[in-house]
Amino acid sequence: MKRVLTGIKPTGYAHIGNYFGAIKPAIELSKNADYQCFYFIADYHALTTLENKEQVQDYFYNIACTWLACGLDPNKVVFYRQSDIKEDFELYWILCNLTPKGLMNRAHAYKAIVERNEESGIDRDDGINMGLYNYPILMAADILLFDTDYVPVGLDQKQHIEIARDIAHNFNVKYGKTLIEPNDYIDENNCTLVGLDGRKMSKSYNNTIMLFGTESALKKSIMRIVTDSRLPGEPKDADCTVNKLYKLFATTEEAEVFEKELLAGLGWGEAKNRLFDVANRFITPMREKFDYYMSHKDEVDKILADGANRAREVARGVLKRVRKAIGVE
Ligand code: TRP
Repeated sequence: MKRVLTGIKPTGYAHIGNYFGAIKPAIELSKNADYQCFYFIADYHALTTLENKEQVQDYFYNIACTWLACGLDPNKVVFYRQSDIKEDFELYWILCNLTPKGLMNRAHAYKAIVERNEESGIDRDDGINMGLYNYPILMAADILLFDTDYVPVGLDQKQHIEIARDIAHNFNVKYGKTLIEPNDYIDENNCTLVGLDGRKMSKSYNNTIMLFGTESALKKSIMRIVTDSRLPGEPKDADCTVNKLYKLFATTEEAEVFEKELLAGLGWGEAKNRLFDVANRFITPMREKFDYYMSHKDEVDKILADGANRAREVARGVLKRVRKAIGVE
C-alpha cells in the first residue's frame, strides 16, 4: 500500500475553487484502497503569515470543519494537526543540516519576495523571517517523517516536493538509505475554476465564491459575476462564467438544458438565479455539517487528537531510524 500525504495551510476560508481543485479530489483519493492517506492541517506553516492568535484559531477550526464537512472520513484518513506532532520539529532540525543554504535561496516563494524588494529599492531581505526562509525544510520534514510515497499538491508546490526529494537524497547519500524519496502527485486535468471576474478563481484576485458562507452571501457572490451587456433574448456564449460554474453543480441533463437556454437568450438575471439554485442545493448538506462541527469543536478536537496518535506511531518509528542513522541513538 502506498502512502499519500498532504498538508493544508489554514490561512483563509475555503472557496469553491479550493473545493473542486483540492478538497474533493483529495477526499476521492482517500476512498481508494491502494492508498493510505495522511492529511494534516499545517498550522505551523501558517505562522509565516498569520497575525494573531485569534486568526490562528479561527482558520484552524474553519479548515478542519471544512474538510470534515466535505466528507473526509477520519476512519479512512489519518487527519491531524501539524503542531501536535513534535517529532516533526526534531526531524526539521536534523534536515536543516542536510540542506544547502543555496537550495533555499532558489526557492520560488523566497525569491519572489527578494525580487519584489529589489525592484522597490529596499533591502533584499526586508520582511523575510527565518520561518519563511526555512519553510521548505519544515515541509520536507512533514513529508519525510511519514515515509511518504506521493504528495498531492497544486503546481505551485511542485518545487517544494523536489526540495524534499533532494533533502532525502542528501540524507541517504550521507547516512545510508534511511528516508523514502517522495514524488509529487499532480493531477494534470485538475480543474482551475473561473472566478467572478472571469480570471482564475483565487483569493488574491478577490474573485472567489466562499464555500461555506451564508446562503445570502452565496447569492450575493453569484450576482456579482461579471457578464457582458447582452439583453434577455440575445444569445449568450456557452463559455461564459455563469455556464461554466453551473456545470459544476448541476446534473448532466440540467447542464444541457441550461446551455441551450443560454444560447437561446436566457437573461443574465434569470441565469444567475438558476445558478444559485443548483449551487445552493449542492452546498446545503455540506454547509449543515460544517455548521454542526463549528458548534461542536470538542468533537473536532477528538478526531484530530485521535489522528495525531495514529500519526505519531508512524512518526516515532521513522524518527528512531533517523536518530540511529545520524548517531544520536
Ligand atoms: N506548503 C503547502 C501549501 O502552501 C502546505 C504544506 C505544508 C504541505 N506541509 C506540506 C503540502 C506537506 C504537502 C505536504 O499549500
